[in-house]
Amino acid sequence: MKSVLFSRFFILLPWILIVILMLDVDTRRPAAPLTPRPYSRYAARGGTRLPLRRGGPESGPGRGAEKRNQSGPQPQPKPQPQPEPPLPTIYAITPTYSRPVQKAELTRLANTFRQVAQLHWILVEDAAARSELVSRFLARAGLPSTHLHVPTPRRYKRPGLPRATEQRNAGLAWLRQRHQHQRAQPGVLFFADDDNTYSLELFEEMRTTRKVSVWPVGLVGGRRYERPLVEDGRVVGWYTGWRADRPFAIDMAGFAVSLQVILSNPKAVFKRHGSQPGMQESDFLKQITTVEELEPKANNCTKVLVWHTRTEKANLANEPKYHLDTVKIEV
Ligand code: UGA
Ligand code: MN
Repeated sequence: MKSVLFSRFFILLPWILIVILMLDVDTRRPAAPLTPRPYSRYAARGGTRLPLRRGGPESGPGRGAEKRNQSGPQPQPKPQPQPEPPLPTIYAITPTYSRPVQKAELTRLANTFRQVAQLHWILVEDAAARSELVSRFLARAGLPSTHLHVPTPRRYKRPGLPRATEQRNAGLAWLRQRHQHQRAQPGVLFFADDDNTYSLELFEEMRTTRKVSVWPVGLVGGRRYERPLVEDGRVVGWYTGWRADRPFAIDMAGFAVSLQVILSNPKAVFKRHGSQPGMQESDFLKQITTVEELEPKANNCTKVLVWHTRTEKANLANEPKYHLDTVKIEV
């Protein structure tokens, strides 16, 4: 009887061992990782099943899948995208004065500037105080702006004398003051008269100005255009029909200056004393750069991207002196 029991036991033993082994292997199979789903019962209970723990000190043999993960190629850390360098701010200094077409000019200008990224408009009124018209206009223009004013002394308000000298200087002073205590942010300064016509491409061109950049200007100097002459990427002369002896035969609309240059030449300003008509640009540029240093833009100065347009004086011959309109309307 005893021997029968023994023999049965020995026959069953391998099977018992096989069953134990299989049970053991089954319990070692990795559990499916639990991804909490918003409405899953597991997630609602805070997760009753632990997610797979990988490669801990307890990980023994027989965990093929985990071993492969450890020894296989490790996932490379993704290259971090470099932060974009900040877009240089374009500071547009615009002198402006009260006249019937003023609001129309400013409207055209604002419509252009609103399409230019990172542009700060410095509007300088030729007046003893900020006017209501310009203040209201700027408040609704939807542009980062600064509103300054300075009157042109009466003695300089004569035909043949340079215009807007004090206003441009006020803009320069504001810029220098603003950046007095901080490291210069990338920026570009441009003198944008209120009556010219500016293409959007012009702002793309000037934004990369390192020191002083130049380009052609249309409808100026008694010609269809004036332009710097460029050879091997350098300015070597000027195509102009008027006072070709000017050191920089260029209109105010034909150049931009980096903020850095403005700040490192704190004395560079527009001068009244000794200034001849048409020499303002040269007198100013002489203080901050040389012709050799100029950076030609607009495809080596072969494209006109700005026009020195002039709006004709409005004809108000029929404007009534008496029997005025019953409402007051701003034009
Ligand atoms: C040319 C140049 O393009 C100007 O940059 C230069 O200032 C001017 O000559 C000059 O004689 O000094 P032009 O079209 O003849 O320009 O001049 P305006 O357009 O009448 O004036 C230039 C800027 O100064 C304008 O933005 C205008 O609004 C402003 N301005 C003009 C004043 O602020 N006050 C004035 O009394 C006259
Ligand atoms: Mn003009």
